[in-house]
Amino acid sequence: MTTLIASSRDYGALVQEDRVHSAIFTDEQIFQDEMERIFHRTWLFALHESEIPNFGDFKRIQLGRYPIIATRNEKGEVQLLINRCRHRGAQVCEAARGNAKRFQCWYHGWTYDTTGDLVGVTGPEAYDEDFKPEQYSLAKVARIGSYRGFVFASLAEHGMSLDEYLGPTKQYFDIMVDSSPTGELEVKPGVVNKTMYRGNWKQVGMDGYHPHYVHMSVFKIFSKRESTTGSAVGAIHLEDPFADASKSRTRGFPHGHACLDFREQRRPHGVAAIEELNHTDEGRKYVEDMVAAYGQERAQELIAWHGDPHLGIFPNLQLIHDHVRVVIPISPGETEVLMYPVFLKGVGQSINEKRLRAHEAFYGPAAAGSPDDAEIFERTQRGLLADAEPWILLGRGIRREQVDEDSSVAGCISDEITQRAQMQEWKRLMTAR
Ligand code: FES
Ligand SMILES: [Fe+2]
Repeated sequence: MTTLIASSRDYGALVQEDRVHSAIFTDEQIFQDEMERIFHRTWLFALHESEIPNFGDFKRIQLGRYPIIATRNEKGEVQLLINRCRHRGAQVCEAARGNAKRFQCWYHGWTYDTTGDLVGVTGPEAYDEDFKPEQYSLAKVARIGSYRGFVFASLAEHGMSLDEYLGPTKQYFDIMVDSSPTGELEVKPGVVNKTMYRGNWKQVGMDGYHPHYVHMSVFKIFSKRESTTGSAVGAIHLEDPFADASKSRTRGFPHGHACLDFREQRRPHGVAAIEELNHTDEGRKYVEDMVAAYGQERAQELIAWHGDPHLGIFPNLQLIHDHVRVVIPISPGETEVLMYPVFLKGVGQSINEKRLRAHEAFYGPAAAGSPDDAEIFERTQRGLLADAEPWILLGRGIRREQVDEDSSVAGCISDEITQRAQMQEWKRLMTAR
């Protein structure tokens, strides 16, 4: 960190209206404070309920610096238990996921149930009668909330409700969930693309300015495809959604949430998408079931949108195309990204297969979309470390912002509204007392 502003730890001064100081992407102390002030205070996405559907199902997740075991207990409740033995602090669960009614600590054998209660102490006679096992349950995440199967957690006991936190972004979750005729998604914990890149966590996603440059080679390949329905990625590039003249919008919401909103640009493709689906039995059934569930008009627009809200929920969740994306900061210059393809319940297998192939085509390890993004994030991180001129510019479109009916701040698709929304929330949380 080179400047007086940064070294004074005046984090408010690091985020201005149209620019931010690059120390927020590179500085170790700022990263540690982000863990405390952002990740340990606000709402974080934990997992989707369908990942642990049955009693005893569990999955290990990371919330800020806390390793967590997400379990489904006997009552059918999702529990988020801090993965730290109450004896001497070892991680109790090491498996990534599975089904277990008990978790036995590897160090000295203490055993916990799916609610986190301490149900077994090895050699208990060595403890006197003052020792009460019921006082040594695994600690729990302070607050849990959910919206349509998406489970969120806050490590802080007090703070705004999840309802208030998500606010007007809920209608974008609905786009993804209601692309199933039964309004249910299935996220499989073992079906995931994992990417690690040497760049800061705040770089990931929600940039409508870069695709023409970073992804041009992929778009050229996709433009030769015939299908309009299988691939949301392909569909948005049938015409140029990233031109400022397109109907696509970028939106910033309260609390750092942001969206690349392609709905208006995609809406006219609904008829063609239904026509193509009608070529197969399962496609026809999907259309019929969608119309029965939501009515002709809504079904047509949901099909046109491909279940893609293109939504970023600050700080660690993005719903992009056919997948749920979780951002896990490791250090200022290292980030893990988990991408879970979403399967629709209540549809024929071929519908989900087509979605999965579409996901793989852009985001899979052998595709060119995600690897191109990771490469540009790494190049950016190397550039940011050279901070002779430390400010980076996020002012694109600042004079053409408008407030839309849903209270979002909106502008042309390439405008840096998304980044400004995220950075203003970063500032709010980093300077809150
Ligand atoms: S640290 Fe878990 S039983 Fe000792
Ligand atoms: Fe990208």
